[in-house]
Amino acid sequence: MKKIIKGGTIATATDLFKADILIEDEKITQIGLNLSAKDAEIIDASGKYVFPGGVDPHTHLDMPFNNTVTDDNWETGTIAAAFGGTTTILDFCLTAGEKNLADAVKKWHEKAADKAVIDYGFHLMVSELDDATLKELPIILEKEGITSIKVFLAYAKEFQATDRTLFQAFKAGKQNNAVIMVHCENGSVIDELVNEAKASGHTDPIYHALTRPPELEGEATKRAIELAHIADAKLYVVHVTCKEAVDEIIKAREKGYKVFGETCPPYLTLDQTELERPNFEGAKYVWSPPLRPKGHQEHLWNALKAKQLQTIGSDQCSFNFNGKKQLGRDDFSKIPNGGPFIEDRFSVLYSEGVHKGRITINEFVESISTNAAKIFGLFPQKGTIAIGSDADIVIFDPTIEREISAKTHHMNVDYSAFEGMKVTGEPVSVLSRGKFVIKDKTFVGQLGSGKYLKRTSSPFTEKKSKAVASTK
Ligand code: URP
Ligand code: ZN
Ligand code: ZN
Ligand code: ZN
Repeated sequence: MKKIIKGGTIATATDLFKADILIEDEKITQIGLNLSAKDAEIIDASGKYVFPGGVDPHTHLDMPFNNTVTDDNWETGTIAAAFGGTTTILDFCLTAGEKNLADAVKKWHEKAADKAVIDYGFHLMVSELDDATLKELPIILEKEGITSIKVFLAYAKEFQATDRTLFQAFKAGKQNNAVIMVHCENGSVIDELVNEAKASGHTDPIYHALTRPPELEGEATKRAIELAHIADAKLYVVHVTCKEAVDEIIKAREKGYKVFGETCPPYLTLDQTELERPNFEGAKYVWSPPLRPKGHQEHLWNALKAKQLQTIGSDQCSFNFNGKKQLGRDDFSKIPNGGPFIEDRFSVLYSEGVHKGRITINEFVESISTNAAKIFGLFPQKGTIAIGSDADIVIFDPTIEREISAKTHHMNVDYSAFEGMKVTGEPVSVLSRGKFVIKDKTFVGQLGSGKYLKRTSSPFTEKKSKAVASTK
């Protein structure tokens, strides 16, 4: 099976050039001008950008959470991802409540295997590290090709790890060359603030934001950074939302600490006032950490531009508004935390970032695809357009103007957090390992065609950041 993508403009993390791409079976085998091959299917990409498929390092599909389960599963979630230009996801495998890690991973494989339409890997999510788990950990990481472990410092009633567990995770990360991903918020203090707010009779969604101030994200980020440093471990701070946290990451990176930072499209484009919407509509915007007051968004853009933040995750974790979000109708602390973002991650970052001139097209590719592939051990199989790489390719029309809406999205959720947002540019066709998943904006993929990705730990190569973001 051969295909030639003709006449497009290829954008990678480093280059922007016109060339054709020859795909043979699952791989890119030639890049050059005027390519031809016998019996090749010709795909016209003139006037379009040709991007490496997006790599989304942060999704929660079919995950039990906050006394319920997320509304997108591996079928609807990966189809929506593909429509949005994402061809690889790394999802968090829940281990809490399982007898051992092997059972937890087996369960996650069962959720994904017959449904995923794009490739995927797992991060291991741990809340406690007893002796048995610490013993099993290296075996599972090796066997499953997992190079990343997630620890929560938030969610006092559900997942929150102690500092001891966090430090044990860093030591295990060091020993096994795994990246330790941390949700940085001080869950115990948040729990206190939530109790205080409820005791004063506050029930509205805005109190979700007011009881999780940015200082508590900054504090937890600093704590994770120092503990990782003592253990000489690699730290990846998930969903960074505010100046307080960004500044800690910048300081650490300036000192040469092995710290990466991720942010997400809503933190770049929306602010805390969304949670004040009347008629409980603020619940649509309840996730953690929360949206921040105006001002923080520009810090995040600056940090992304300055390469102090490396990746864009979706933090896909969807709950229907006229469904599970209603669990918190009378009590903001019972609103399931999370939003639907897997489909719009790529387009929102392109439109708000590249189209509006905040980042270059190469910086876009780097943060939407390449850096996650590098950090999590998938590069150069994923994350770039190069000879020998998987033919995961997005053909993107940068001239299309449209409005994001739940009426047209493909996620299994009844609202969009970006409802009405005007974006420029849209993925029109998407290939996963050489096969169309989306062709001319129509899903043509196959359930279960996505492959589980075994990963290999990548070296930490950065010494110092190249530039410093404004911290004013
Ligand atoms: O509110 C969120 N972000 N839900 C998903 C779980 C997490 O914290 O990443
Ligand atoms: Zn989190
Ligand atoms: Zn602030
Ligand atoms: Zn998350």
